[in-house]
This record gives sequence, structure tokens and C-alpha cells, in this order.
Amino acid sequence: MKDWIDFGLVRDFATEKTDAYRLCTKPEGWVERYGGDVVVSYKSEAARDQILHELDEWSLLSQERFGRIFGRYLPKQNPERHPPQLISGDPNELLHRTIVEREVCYQVDFGAGYSVGLFLDQRENRSFVRRAGPRRLLNCFAYTCSFSVVAGMAGAETVNVDLSKKSLNRGRDNFMLNRLATDRHRFVADDVLVLLPRLARRGERFDMIILDPPTFSRSRTSRAWQVEQGFENLLLAALEVAEREAKILLATNCTRLNERTLEVMGRFCLKAIRRAGAFHRSPSLPDFPPGAAASSLWMILR
Ligand SMILES: C[S@@+](CC[C@H](N)C(=O)[O-])C[C@H]1O[C@@H](n2cnc3c(N)ncnc32)[C@H](O)[C@@H]1O
Repeated sequence: MKDWIDFGLVRDFATEKTDAYRLCTKPEGWVERYGGDVVVSYKSEAARDQILHELDEWSLLSQERFGRIFGRYLPKQNPERHPPQLISGDPNELLHRTIVEREVCYQVDFGAGYSVGLFLDQRENRSFVRRAGPRRLLNCFAYTCSFSVVAGMAGAETVNVDLSKKSLNRGRDNFMLNRLATDRHRFVADDVLVLLPRLARRGERFDMIILDPPTFSRSRTSRAWQVEQGFENLLLAALEVAEREAKILLATNCTRLNERTLEVMGRFCLKAIRRAGAFHRSPSLPDFPPGAAASSLWMILR
């Protein structure tokens, strides 16, 4: 079926113990699976109805059955973002559930907000973190701390920074879900832009840093921030706390910044501070067609 993943890929995900992935991507919407539930994201009601019709057909052909179907409208403006709404399935079932990605568990919550708690297009970057096995990871804009959980499983200590205390508490839950003690992990509810210079002054250093900022940010302490204008200064501040051979993830879901632009920004920052580095791209995701996933790139310092 056009725009839908093939059944062989469904089997591959089951083999690698992953039950959360993208099922379909269209210009007007997409479908993501979270264990036995799915979320249909759509730009118009006509697109939603068409996707629901195809989901029925795909489900029949693949023999994959889903308990609940949620619908999430994709608005043009951030203030119009709302949590997914139940379209079909049991309304009395809990809104949160555990999913698994390459044997690591995460909790997703269909009622907590516009995003359910795990960005599926960061799967390969999470695996990169786990394989690289950092000693000290700084997770900026940590959200539900998924990068820190995989780093923790590889033995790292982590510092997680996010404005939202609620998201960091969900991060703590993700550690517990994977039987990881949180005593070697710090959860700091603060503004990354304010905290980075403070960490540098304190002499804190990290061998891995995650920079995955939102497109826009406004906090009590810093002025309105926009990723296109702000990414370079953010990276320069992060480089102040980077160890000699640190690895830094540059990621954004701002559609105006692609991997090439991220690399140009990265090279500009390295030149500005007279440091050398290389760039590495994680493999592309088989369930996300080109251009559908967030842009991301690893900067490897030398
Ligand atoms: C794109 S999400 C990060 C996703 C995360 N890297 C992941 O893969 O799960 C953006 C997060 O940045 C947080 N945030 C926005 N502005 C911030 C700021 N100035 N300082 C710290 N956190 C901020 C939001 O609360 C949100 O959790």
C-alpha cells in the first residue's frame, strides 16, 4: 500500500524488540504506532478520514490489530496544539502505556500533551548514544530524558536540563521503568541558555552533549529564542563544556534547517573557537521517508 510501511519491516521491528514506529507518512498526515495503540496525526478532517480508511485496510492485510486509535490535529500555530483525542477503543483504559524500542522501555502518555513522550525519529541517535557509551552526558532540552536512559544503560552519569519539571519527572519514571537507579543522574528544571554558562564557570565537562532545542522557546529568564537565529550561540555555549573528544548531537525539527545547514553552522562554530571536528550522520530510518524526520547530525570533536 502506497505511503505505508511494508509487512517485512513490521517483522524486522518485532525481531529487534521495537513496538513503536511510524506506519504511514503522507503530505497531509501520518500514523505512528505505540505498542497496541496508534496515533493518527492529520492536517484536515478529509485527510484524517482517508488515513483512517487506509489504516483499516492495512490492519486487515497485515493482521496487526490495534486496541485504540487516537487522532491528533496538526495546527499551523503552536497555541492551537492539543493532546490526541480518542477516536475508537476503550475510553476507560489508562492513557499511559509502556512501549519498547530495541529492548529499552519508555512510557508514553496520550493525555499529557501534544507530544506523547517519545520522538520516534530519534531512534538511531539513541542507539548511537548507547553504542558510544559516554561517561558524562549533558542532555539539553531533555524532555522525557530518552537519550539519558540509553546513556544510563551504557553506564553514563547524566545531567538533564529542561524548563518543564513535569517532563523531567516523566524522565525519572523512564529510568525506573528500566531498573536504573537515579542517584547518578541530575534533573535540573532550568533554562538551558542560562544554565550552560553557569556549568562552564563551575568547570563541569561532558564527553557527550545533546542539543535538540524546540523551534521557539520563551522562559522567565531569557528572551524569546528562535532556533534559526539561536543555534550557533547555543552550540558555542555547549562547546565551552565539551571535553576534548566530545560528541555533540545537533538536532532540530525546524523544517527550514536541514542537515547541510546544521553542518555549516557546526563548521562555523569550530572555526570560531579554533577547534577541529568531524561530522557523522546516523543511518536513515526505514519507517521515515526522506524529509519526514527531524534533521540531525553528530559533531565529533578532535
Ligand atoms: C524538541 S523537545 C526535546 C526532545 C528531546 N530531545 C527528546 O528527544 O526526547 C523540546 C524540549 O525543550 C524544552 N525547552 C524549551 N525551551 C527550553 C529552554 N529554554 N531551556 C530548557 N528547556 C527548554 C521543552 O520543555 C521541551 O521538553
